[in-house]
Amino acid sequence: MSILPDLSTLFIGKGYEHFESLDSTNNRLKQINREGVIAEGYTVTTDYQTSGRGQIGNAWQSESGRNLLTSVFLRPTVIKASEYFFLNMSVCLAIAETLSFFHPGFKVKWPNDILFDTKKIAGVLIENSISRNQLNHSIIGIGINVNQRDFQSVPNATSLSRIVGNEIDLGFLLSKLLKNLELRYLQLLKSTKNLNGEYLQSLYGYAKEVSVEIKGVRKKAEVLNVLPDGTLLMLIDGHQRQFQFKEIQFLL
Ligand code: BTN
Repeated sequence: MSILPDLSTLFIGKGYEHFESLDSTNNRLKQINREGVIAEGYTVTTDYQTSGRGQIGNAWQSESGRNLLTSVFLRPTVIKASEYFFLNMSVCLAIAETLSFFHPGFKVKWPNDILFDTKKIAGVLIENSISRNQLNHSIIGIGINVNQRDFQSVPNATSLSRIVGNEIDLGFLLSKLLKNLELRYLQLLKSTKNLNGEYLQSLYGYAKEVSVEIKGVRKKAEVLNVLPDGTLLMLIDGHQRQFQFKEIQFLL
């Protein structure tokens, strides 16, 4: 186990492992959890993933040693399974806040992306385990494009160093991220009262017309709300409509 310099958290990142290469940091936490007791906040990072996973079965590709690839183990047992998306809101806000330390203008794109202008800079893959209708444990996988400059194979992506113009120290960024993650997580455990409002303020397309595609049809639409179960409420052609993951795409 290594130690993270500059870490000012209470529990996230206190247990920490770094690997030169892994299949996936989420898989590594699953494996540790299968093998024994894992402390809440345990964090894994790697320089390179051979099977980095994104949402809906997509692969997450990243140049070796250039980006932040991390997973954090949490036990948000007070959260109802039907309200699991509050955790996603907390995590996305923590990432956007961390990036905002370096530059203004980051937005969350429902359900799991962080954008700068219309380009993706980070993605989240949360894998929840549920017991008796409550969350039991959650593996929070986060990929942030940091020092990679070349995105020819993913034209809609960008990185922090492309935005700020210089290289970023990955350890410094990780410590900031874990701190913000912990602050948002502690807020979530106390109350979900203000979370939705703060999330909406940072959301791409909130109270603003953007282009979307629904079943192959292009539309103008505005985000009205995101419910605790992750349902997206949109205003389209003067009507309120609900969407689950994959039922609507934002056209960037
Ligand atoms: C997405 O945008 O679809 C989510 C991408 C999540 C990628 C991160 S990288 C660290 C962690 N390990 C994985 O295999 N995936 C997540």
